Amino acid sequence: MAELQQVLSTFLDYLKQQKQLFGDGFLMTGEEADELIQTFQKKELTLNEFYEAIKDCRRCPLAETRTHLVFGTGDEKADLMLIGEAPGRDEDLSGIPFVGRAGQLLNKILEAVHFKRDEVYIANIIKCRPPQNRDPLLSEVEQCEPYLKKQIDIIKPKFILALGRIAGQTLLRSGASLTALRGKVHNYHGIKLIVTYHPAALLRNPQWKRPTWEDVQFLRKLYDEEIQYGTNAKKL
Ligand code: URA
Ligand code: URA
Repeated sequence: MAELQQVLSTFLDYLKQQKQLFGDGFLMTGEEADELIQTFQKKELTLNEFYEAIKDCRRCPLAETRTHLVFGTGDEKADLMLIGEAPGRDEDLSGIPFVGRAGQLLNKILEAVHFKRDEVYIANIIKCRPPQNRDPLLSEVEQCEPYLKKQIDIIKPKFILALGRIAGQTLLRSGASLTALRGKVHNYHGIKLIVTYHPAALLRNPQWKRPTWEDVQFLRKLYDEEIQYGTNAKKL
């Protein structure tokens, strides 16, 4: 995938250069060159095309034990992306992220700050369930995270909410504790990223619900400032 992009981008540069150097006289007219350049620039994968390309992935051993690869769900043009850790049992069975108990709680958290599940995009750091829900291995993250990166490139969200320590640490390449990661706006390749508790952690530790509530209110405020009322109108 990366190689193909490299080749295309080199070829595009070449075309642009030829057009500049030779105008209408070389290989094709300037108009034809423009058309070709536009075709290549538009040839961005849709999420569906990308899903089709990776749904039978066997890059890591989790492919042996999974039922479904859990790709992600929601609005392809979402301004807010939620990123969890890894699919659990219910997600593995259904192929949809956050549909089990943690997912029910996540839905409530979203509703509390007036986000609809289908206006955001929800994915995980890794796409296949680790046996017994153990933490993802570094090797699994290394194989899988490029897929998430590609999804982020397609969706181009303005905000990312990282759910839990693993998501926060992985995305930010940080060893900091969840407590240290919370309460600030991080910069993830130009996207504003906030870290909060994982909903599964809230099921075990209800005393963390209040700080989570504060985190998502903070996110909602930033989101409204930038998207609802800002000049940064929703992309078409
Ligand atoms: N926990 C996660 O991190 N992701 C899911 O999709 C479900 C539970
Ligand atoms: N520790 C975790 O791993 N996740 C949380 O959400 C909170 C503490």
